[in-house]
Amino acid sequence: MKRKLLTVLMSVGFLVLITTLYAFKLKTNEEESYQPQTKWKNLKVLPQNISKDSLDYLMDGYTSALSVKCNYCHAPQKDNPTKLDFASDDKIEKEIARGMIKMTNDLNKIYFQPHFPDPKPAQVQVVNCVMCHRGAPNPEKYLAKMSTMYKTYDPERDNRKEKILKEMGKQ
Ligand code: HEC
Ligand code: HEC
Repeated sequence: MKRKLLTVLMSVGFLVLITTLYAFKLKTNEEESYQPQTKWKNLKVLPQNISKDSLDYLMDGYTSALSVKCNYCHAPQKDNPTKLDFASDDKIEKEIARGMIKMTNDLNKIYFQPHFPDPKPAQVQVVNCVMCHRGAPNPEKYLAKMSTMYKTYDPERDNRKEKILKEMGKQ
């Protein structure tokens, strides 16, 4: 009789133990799903815990602002050149882009954010890549063609200050 009771008690105890362990495992699984989705390997400017969605959104934005593909900044994988090694720093364009990201963030943070009315938005994105790049990898290229942009250029408008000064008899 005593033996039977002991077995029952032991089985119950065993069951309780199993369910507790299982519940504990479920709980840790749940917590794991709140971790950042990806462990990024080589972020030096963007936040380490940036979600995959946000990073993809930014990267897509860079490609369209500069009219390039991912491989403009990202080097191919050494063992499989048909794929890109996103963590690699082999391309100078990626390093330049880091400076550009930092500059753009600073412009927004220092020169725009403080002048927003309260409550200030957590993030201000007034200046962005396309504002300067306008679909060119290097804005210098279209700036070199600047003279062709002045279609409405009016030579009569030139030396306006001098003309006024002359009329006033000051020159
Ligand atoms: C104009 C340059 C540029 C373009 C174009 C670009 N990236 Fe990036 N990418 C960067 C820079 C710079 C970083 C590193 C940011 C940092 O250091 O915080 C980066 C980081 C990444 C990372 C994180 C790698 C890691 O684990 O460290 C991924 C993934 C990535 N890019 C994917 C893409 C994809 C996909 C595309 C095309 C849709 C793309 N990138 C286009 C500049 C670019
Ligand atoms: C305030 C204007 C401005 C903004 C904003 C800006 N850029 Fe630039 N960027 C330039 C200029 C100008 C150059 C050319 C610099 C040179 O040739 O010395 C350049 C060059 C680059 C280059 C190198 C191009 C090459 O191959 O020669 C990359 C890559 C780049 N920018 C990425 C970005 C990204 C990504 C952003 C947004 C995060 C951005 N830039 C925002 C002005 C800007």
